[in-house]
Amino acid sequence: MRIAVVHGPNLRLLGRREPAVYGTETLADVNALLSEEAASLGVELEFFQSNHEGEILDFVDAASARVEAFLVNPGALTHTSVALRDALTGVARPFVEVHLSNTAAREPFRHHSFLSDVAAGVVFGFGAQSYVLGLRGLVARLRKVNPA
Ligand code: DQA
Repeated sequence: MRIAVVHGPNLRLLGRREPAVYGTETLADVNALLSEEAASLGVELEFFQSNHEGEILDFVDAASARVEAFLVNPGALTHTSVALRDALTGVARPFVEVHLSNTAAREPFRHHSFLSDVAAGVVFGFGAQSYVLGLRGLVARLRKVNPA
C-alpha cells in the first residue's frame, strides 16, 4: 500500500517558522517520523512539498496513478483553495487532512476548511503527531475497506 504525503505552502519553513505555533521540528523531522510509522504499519510513503498551488494540483493528479490515498497538510490552501478540493475529489482517492496547529483556536479565517467535509478524516492540534495519527487513521480505514 502506497500513500503520498503532501505538504502545502510554507511547510518547508518548519523549525524556524513561528515555533510557538508550529514547534521546532523541521519538515525533514516530520517526514522521518512518518517514515518510521510507515515502516511499522507496513506501508510505503512518498513525500511532496510545494509553495505553488498548481504544482500541488499536478502532483495530486500524477500521484493518483500510483498511490491509494493522500495524507495532506494543505497549509494556507486549506482556507482558500476550491481547486485543491476539486483535485482531491477528482482523483477519487481517500485523503486525511492534517494540521500541526489547532486551527479552531486561531484566527477566524483559519476556522473554515475547503477540504474537511470531503476528507476521510481530519487531525489537528498535535504538532508533528497530527501527521502520525492521521497516517494511522488513514491506513486503518484503507485496510477496513480493502482487507488484504
Ligand atoms: C497549518 C495551518 C494553516 O492555517 C496555516 O496556513 C499553515 C499550517 C498547520 O499545519 O497548522 O500553513 O496547516
